Parts: sequence; structure tokens; C-alpha cells
Amino acid sequence: METGPIHTVKSLNVDIPKHRLTVITGVSGSGKTTLVLESLVPALEAICYGKRMPEHIRTIKAEGIHQVKLIDATPIGVNVRSTVATYANVHDELRKIYGKTAGAKLLGYKAGDFSYNTGSLRCPVCDGTGMISLDVQFLPDVDIPCPECRGSRYGKQAKLIHYTNKDGEERSLPELMNMDVNTAVHYCRHMKSVRPKLEILRDLGLGYLTLGEETPSLSGGEAQRLKLASEMGRKQADSVFVFDEPTIGLHPKDVETLLKVFATLIDNGATVIVIEHDLDVIRSADYLIDMGPEGGEDGGRIVACGSQEDIRNCEESITGKFI
Ligand SMILES: Nc1ncnc2c1ncn2[C@@H]1O[C@H](COP(=O)(O)OP(=O)(O)O)[C@@H](O)[C@H]1O
Ligand SMILES: [Mg+2]
Ligand SMILES: [Zn+2]
Repeated sequence: METGPIHTVKSLNVDIPKHRLTVITGVSGSGKTTLVLESLVPALEAICYGKRMPEHIRTIKAEGIHQVKLIDATPIGVNVRSTVATYANVHDELRKIYGKTAGAKLLGYKAGDFSYNTGSLRCPVCDGTGMISLDVQFLPDVDIPCPECRGSRYGKQAKLIHYTNKDGEERSLPELMNMDVNTAVHYCRHMKSVRPKLEILRDLGLGYLTLGEETPSLSGGEAQRLKLASEMGRKQADSVFVFDEPTIGLHPKDVETLLKVFATLIDNGATVIVIEHDLDVIRSADYLIDMGPEGGEDGGRIVACGSQEDIRNCEESITGKFI
């Protein structure tokens, strides 16, 4: 990609290898976000989706790239009806399975009745949200778990309908939604349509989340990884994934998980581009682009690019002194 000047960022000539982990480094204000989010992403969106090409982009060549996916840490879903299970498409599969049980047939229920948004088995008190709003005089409303269903979102009837797995373990759907992903992987091990989806959540380091947990309450890092759930099990040779400082707020253990997730994406053929300060991520890069040398007017150039060694050997690179 070749760009003209924008803000304090100078004209740039950038090469990024396909199917590799590229990390963009540099002090604050050196131009990382401008390069990636204001230049590369919109330019790729222009060639992939026919959006308008930003004026400062002079040329971009990305043969074989047809998709660009910006994975940020903003919350998922604005209402409490979005849960880990619905977001990961696990809930739809479970509804179908519960709709086919002998108990459901006996009582006349089908898959649709198990929806906690519209199904007849949803809790009538909280309308399937699991929460109710208390109107306290002189105070703002407070949300508390629904006393009727205790947050399970289901009415009493749903608890009477059980699925029995091949080892004879019986669970109702509300009980299953109350399990964490790790426990559910085990219980659902014979369900062909469910197990792979749960295993992906586990491999994303989300095994401790409860299936029924509402997605708006997830942390940024959890939301970011959950957004990748639908991307993990497939070929990604034509996709570019972009992350802007994804380790912010993450524990070193979570950073390790994130690095494994990048590796899986790349094994599936993806091109991964990450803006990052974290040294573990920087040291995992196949290719580095170091911006700077300083912020603002004294930055906005590519100081060095290439392998870890290329950056280390560059006198002018501040990042080079740390890796
Ligand atoms: N919308 C904008 N308008 C004017 N200047 C901007 C704008 N966005 C960024 N800049 C300037 O461009 C430079 C690079 O910013 P940025 O790309 O956000 O750096 P980084 O992501 O490396 O911290 C900084 O000097 C910043 O002040
Ligand atoms: Mg930035
Ligand atoms: Zn309820």
C-alpha cells in the first residue's frame, strides 16, 4: 500500500505479508492507528466491498484478499437477550434437540417454545430476560435477578423437560444453560451439532463462562474472543483480521490464549495484523512494522520493518531496544 500524508503521518510505502502475524509497533502518536484503521482497513474495504477509497490512498494491491475483519473489544449486544449460547449459535441447536425429546412431545412443545425471546416456555414474570426492574421510590430503578426463574429465563414447565445423554445423565435446558462451557462440553459430548461449537469457546479461553451469561456484561477481552467464535473453525485464506491493542486489560495468561487464537487463525490461512505494545505479542510477530521514531510531528514514518532481528538492529528504533 502507498499512502499520501495525513495528520502528522508522512507518505508511507507499506508491505504486509499474507498468512502471517504482523505487529505494528511504535510510541503513542507515532501513527499506528492512522496506518491501520484510517488507511489499510478502509482501503481494503474499498477493494473488497466497493466502499469509497480514502483520498490519501495512492495504491493498494491485495491479490486474493476478499474480506477484512476488524475485531474490537466493544461490548456485544445492547440488550440482555444476547447470551454466550445465542451468540455462539449453540442455543438454536439446543432448542432443536430439546424440541425432539420425549418430554417435549408429550407436553406438545417444539423447538420454538424453548426460545427465551418468544417461546411459550420463557419465564412469564421477567419475559425471558432473567432480570426485573425494581421501581424504588426516589431512587433510580435497580435491576435484580428475576425471583420467579432466578435468572434462568425459563418458566416452570421448561424444567420438567429433560434430555438424556448417552450415559444416562438427565438435564433440563435451564440446567444446561446454567452450566459453564467446560461442563457443557462434557455433558454435550454426544451432540454432533453442539460439541464443536462449545469446544471452540473452550479453546478461545472462555471455558469458565456460563452458557446463559448475557453478552453485554462480558469484559472487553472476553467479548473480543467471543466475536472470533464463528471465525475459528474455517478456512481464512482470503481474510485479513485486524486488532488495535487487543491486550489492553488482559492478564498475561489471557495474552497467551490470544496468541494461540492468532496462531489458529493463521493455521487456517488468515492474515493477522495487530497494533500492540505488549512485548510477548511483539516477540511472537512474524513481521514487524515500527512507526516513529517519536509521536506527532517527530513521528509518522516507518522507522524499521522486517523480522525481530531487523528491528533490533535498527539504531533509530525505540522498539528495537526492548525486544
Ligand atoms: N483525526 C485526527 N485529526 C488530526 N490529527 C490526528 C487525528 N488522528 C490522529 N491524529 C494525529 O496523528 C498522529 C498519529 O496518531 P495515531 O495514528 O492515533 O497514533 P498511534 O495510534 O500510534 O498512537 C498523532 O500526532 C495524532 O495527534
Ligand atoms: Mg492508536
Ligand atoms: Zn424470570
